[in-house]
Amino acid sequence: MSSNPQYHNANSPYGSGDPYYSASTGYITPAPMKKRTSNWLKIGIPVAIVVIVGAVVGGVLGSRAAKNSSANNASGASNSGPTNEAAASSAASVKNAIGVYPTATDSLYLLPLYPSTTNTAAFTQPTFHPSNNAALAWPKDPFAPSSPSPTTVREDRPRLIAPAYKWQALPSLIASDPYLKQWNDTIFGNATDYYALPPVKYFMDGPSGILDNAREVKMRIKAFAYVYRMTNDTKWVDRTWAELQNAVSDSFGPNDATKWNPSHFLDVGEFTAAFAIAYDWLYDQWTDDQKSTIRSNIITYGLNQGIVAYDNTNNQFWGWWTGADIKGNWNCVCNSGLTMGALAILNDDNSGIAEQILGKTVPNAATACANGVTSDGSWTETHAYWHFGTTGHAEMSASLLSATGSDYGMLTGNKNFDKTGLFHMHGTGPGTAFMWGDHGPNRFSTTANGMFLYGDFFNHAEYILHQRDQHDAPEPWSMFWYDPTVSGAFWDGMPLDHFFDDPLTQWAAMRSSWTDQNAVFAAIKAGLLTGHQTHNDLDLGDFVIDAMGTRWAGELGSGDYRSAEYFNSDKQDAVRWLYYRTRTEGQNCLLVNKQNQLVTAAPTVNHESSGTTQGSSTVFEVPSDSTAYWTADLASGYSDVTSYQRGMRLINGRKQILLQDDITASQPIMWRMHTNATVSVDDSGTSATLEIGDKKLTMQLLNPTSDMKITTGPASRLDGDPALPSGESDQENPGVTVVIINMDAGTKSLQVLFNPQWPGMSASDFKTPPSVPVSSWKLRSHD
Ligand SMILES: *[C@@H]1O[C@H](CO)[C@@H](O)[C@H](O)[C@H]1NC(C)=O
Ligand SMILES: *[C@@H]1O[C@H](CO)[C@@H](O)[C@H](O)[C@H]1NC(C)=O
Ligand SMILES: *[C@@H]1O[C@H](CO)[C@@H](O)[C@H](O)[C@H]1NC(C)=O
Ligand SMILES: *[C@@H]1O[C@H](CO)[C@@H](O)[C@H](O)[C@H]1NC(C)=O
Ligand SMILES: *[C@@H]1O[C@H](CO)[C@@H](O)[C@H](O)[C@H]1NC(C)=O
Repeated sequence: MSSNPQYHNANSPYGSGDPYYSASTGYITPAPMKKRTSNWLKIGIPVAIVVIVGAVVGGVLGSRAAKNSSANNASGASNSGPTNEAAASSAASVKNAIGVYPTATDSLYLLPLYPSTTNTAAFTQPTFHPSNNAALAWPKDPFAPSSPSPTTVREDRPRLIAPAYKWQALPSLIASDPYLKQWNDTIFGNATDYYALPPVKYFMDGPSGILDNAREVKMRIKAFAYVYRMTNDTKWVDRTWAELQNAVSDSFGPNDATKWNPSHFLDVGEFTAAFAIAYDWLYDQWTDDQKSTIRSNIITYGLNQGIVAYDNTNNQFWGWWTGADIKGNWNCVCNSGLTMGALAILNDDNSGIAEQILGKTVPNAATACANGVTSDGSWTETHAYWHFGTTGHAEMSASLLSATGSDYGMLTGNKNFDKTGLFHMHGTGPGTAFMWGDHGPNRFSTTANGMFLYGDFFNHAEYILHQRDQHDAPEPWSMFWYDPTVSGAFWDGMPLDHFFDDPLTQWAAMRSSWTDQNAVFAAIKAGLLTGHQTHNDLDLGDFVIDAMGTRWAGELGSGDYRSAEYFNSDKQDAVRWLYYRTRTEGQNCLLVNKQNQLVTAAPTVNHESSGTTQGSSTVFEVPSDSTAYWTADLASGYSDVTSYQRGMRLINGRKQILLQDDITASQPIMWRMHTNATVSVDDSGTSATLEIGDKKLTMQLLNPTSDMKITTGPASRLDGDPALPSGESDQENPGVTVVIINMDAGTKSLQVLFNPQWPGMSASDFKTPPSVPVSSWKLRSHD
């Protein structure tokens, strides 16, 4: 597809102040940090939790915590039967007593920290419980058209996402739900902060255009309009007006219809969405003149540009993202913004443009955007781009549902869409996410809060329970998407492993706990190397390992989005594949003859799991026979290779990890793994100790042949790599060491055993697994 100049910004996915972004070098991977925790909850600190004293050492090693006897019962998330009904009722009633479960976030990645506690009354299997909770539930939407149409909108305002009946119900729901209460407070705080700032300053940022401007304006307007509706204080309306006026002023972009930068249409989409919310949520407050001005801005800078993007294939602003094959974030974000703009002004403008736009965006997004989720629930782009894609998708779906009473296939057309919450949940380990491929830039106004909408729509309480504890939950959409009748704990009954099997997006996630910061997380991928909107790396077999609160094998992150031809192509000879961070050598993969993997690869995978699920307690004792493995045939990814299988498995009750490569190659082989650890290799060259802070992990080669030796090297280009385009250079990867195992050509079985040195575990507690060809791995083959 055509070029895909995505975002670049001197900020980060985690907002300003991200320690891993350098304006000059892009994302950096610094030396490991000490774990710190920061209190982030001003309210709702858990009370009345039964603390199991002595359980704090961590679930991985199985301290002798008292366990709910049903804790290991693999009944998934089904919630029928009188026992569950009673438990859910009880869980709902203890909700207020507990408040918000996690007491803090991990300061580096803002992941929730769960107290080591059990509370069998509250931590039950995820469920919705409206029958006993009518007072805590949203009322039924009075607008329920029998034959909905995208151009037939409800009569009352707001139309978009939050209809009047929800605003009316909200104060009493806030009063009875600790999460809604906390989010409301946070949004008020954020709005107060934005209020004091000058309007967003115009900044054209090369390939990412004015997207950050647009997202920041949208984030502010959502907060201002929310606080206005919750207070009736018109100072918020005035402040919104100032922000709107600024974004169409003479000094904000060119003085013509291209002000919102249709050459990078995401910007148009996000500005149009921002103006739509302002128009719709503050509808009763605007004068007729103001309404007319906002409508005309939406049409001139937004909807008219949408018509050009759809219809005018010869125009420089024709939208490549309108292609039915653009199953990614561009299609979602651009269509969502145009749709929200059109729904906001429909019937107030009689030019017919809103109807025209809806006639294009709704069927297009239902075909393209909604199929950004593959048959296994994965997002076609990358783990990180799920956030951008699903935010646009959720906003568009919710706007259509609230304004017109139907989703027109946005949610229901792709029968696997409901699985996407699992993709998001399994993709994050106790350290951070499995960030393969490009991991994306600044996330202003982009969150995982689609989890609330999807959880509610698809009846997956665990998605809601998972997301409500996350740092990005507090924002206006959450106030209307969250179902307060939810109860239980997302981890209760949640399988530790999940395998994603769509040929495009094969990957695996295996862990030892959902709630223990120190848990093992081992994730690995195959899939196709193309078909990811040019956000992939050449990374078949790439893996990450977390243990003891530390990431031992990790990713380098995105290349520099400003690099020449970074997004132009993902063909074998693409310039993209010259940059270290996209090359096979820049991943945790096997190299043969130092060559990139072949983009034509079509791996096949195999896997099994003991099916272990976590129980009610946040302290989880892993049964000693609990295990999982995943194998992939990756031979098609290589020249000079006649067979190649890579397998990864957890052994010894998920305390150790085995990675094995069985390969026959006619050229030299090189195993590579990127780590922040300090690496010391022993004299024999067959084992190494990795140290991060005061944590240690040993790596041991099992049954090595004499040519297999561990060495280390820098995370940079190999001698003999083809040159970069002139003037280009790779980013630095400070603090990162590559652990390398070189092998001769031939038939090899390289078996690398990772032994995290768990506190209290002695040498004799570690197991040495038998040697089994990857093709013969079974669930019990390594006991
Ligand atoms: C799991 O549930 C089944 C069926 O309800 C029951 O027979 C079994 O005893 C339970 N197992 C545990 C470990 O609670
Ligand atoms: C929302 O939060 C604000 C700021 O903390 C507070 O003044 C207001 O009462 C809250 N709204 C409700 C309905 O509780
Ligand atoms: C909103 O406020 C919370 C709590 O103070 C803060 O952690 C968060 O960073 C703010 N969000 C933004 C986008 O400013
Ligand atoms: C704001 O005004 C509306 C409409 O008059 C009213 O229903 C609502 O209760 C008011 N809200 C507050 C917080 O005063
Ligand atoms: C290094 O540490 C950072 C911060 O924890 C992490 O994001 C990155 O993935 C790590 N890099 C590697 C190669 O493990």
